[in-house]
Amino acid sequence: MMKFFSTRCGVISAVTLCTGLLLTACKKSDEPAPAPGKDGAAPAPASGVIKVGEFASLTGKEATFGQSSHKGTLLAIEELNAAGGVLGRKFELITEDTQSKQGESASVVRKLVSRDKCIAILGEVASGRSLEAAPICQNAKVPMISPSSTNPKVTEVGDFVFRVCFIDPFQGTVMALFAKNTLKAKNVAVLTDAAAPYSVGLATFFKEKFVADGGKIAVEQKFSSGDKDFKAQLTAIKAANPDAIFAPCYYTEAGLITQQARQLGINLPIFGGDGWEAPELLTIGGKAMDGTYYSTHYSPEDKAEMVATFVRKFKARWNNEVPDAMAALGYDSALVLADAIKRAGGTDGQKLRDALAATKDFVGVTGKTTLDAKRNATKPAVIIEVKDGKFVYKETVNP
Ligand code: PHE
Repeated sequence: MMKFFSTRCGVISAVTLCTGLLLTACKKSDEPAPAPGKDGAAPAPASGVIKVGEFASLTGKEATFGQSSHKGTLLAIEELNAAGGVLGRKFELITEDTQSKQGESASVVRKLVSRDKCIAILGEVASGRSLEAAPICQNAKVPMISPSSTNPKVTEVGDFVFRVCFIDPFQGTVMALFAKNTLKAKNVAVLTDAAAPYSVGLATFFKEKFVADGGKIAVEQKFSSGDKDFKAQLTAIKAANPDAIFAPCYYTEAGLITQQARQLGINLPIFGGDGWEAPELLTIGGKAMDGTYYSTHYSPEDKAEMVATFVRKFKARWNNEVPDAMAALGYDSALVLADAIKRAGGTDGQKLRDALAATKDFVGVTGKTTLDAKRNATKPAVIIEVKDGKFVYKETVNP
């Protein structure tokens, strides 16, 4: 069981989380309930607290994604409130747990939009869950900002959907170049989670670039999120005799895949994308993780002043925990939203959308955010190596 402290209604209240339990919202009685708008959209009150919804996998298979992202987002909201909020109004963050489960995102985001009347939604980390909720935000004309979903389709849902991270055509390119130039691989096996849009997309973009640069795909194998036994796929991969294995999946499966590969005597470099990032990667995969690599969005080892300050504040707020990429992106997503509200002069959905779309050179922990015509950000990627049971920063790759 895990304790979170959420700032709600300007006071600190303790929220206890355990599997299956949703975060409870405190009711603010002195605020008039606005009439429901068209499509259940939130008519933006011109004064009073600014309600921001957040949906995140606080429990379940990708729990560290949601927990990290939430801690970063909440830190930003608390800092904004401590500085007086924006336009003289404070923020209230209403957080819902998607439980890492299919179907939950749609239902919790429907609640955040229709019942809580949130003026904007922050989330999710995983692309599949962002894809589930995006049409709800789009139809209600409530801007949604994903901190870290990298599949291009997320923002293609519509003009109210944004993200503050890079997208997978870039991440796939980064890892194809890494395989070719750093690993010196000519022949790579690809192991894809066919049930995760993130995995399918990243595998595709990797293959395109790797093959275009003269590389070969030795074999491609598939599995489904939640699978625990990868021996059949790994045996087929071993038989194809590749130089390396690309497994663009989430950390739970990445840990198991690597461990089972080593058991089968496959001692090749194994590498993935940002979905690998979690302390659990090392708990699940253990010693087997040495000699693996993944790409992500930021490194706490970055010497930039903004990063060092963020790491210090995050550790002070969250029991000395070192913030990972999701924490940094969660933090930036809230700051980008606050900046847009300021420029929009309020929280009207259309005006806020337009202000978000005009985001340019906004300086955050993960670099400068400029949103392009497709509402995506362009940012550098970082490559991490697992060495002696530790995450070691290897290189930064600029777009
Ligand atoms: N990019 C992943 C996705 O789209 C989510 C993720 C982001 C995971 C950052 C870890 C770190 O599903």
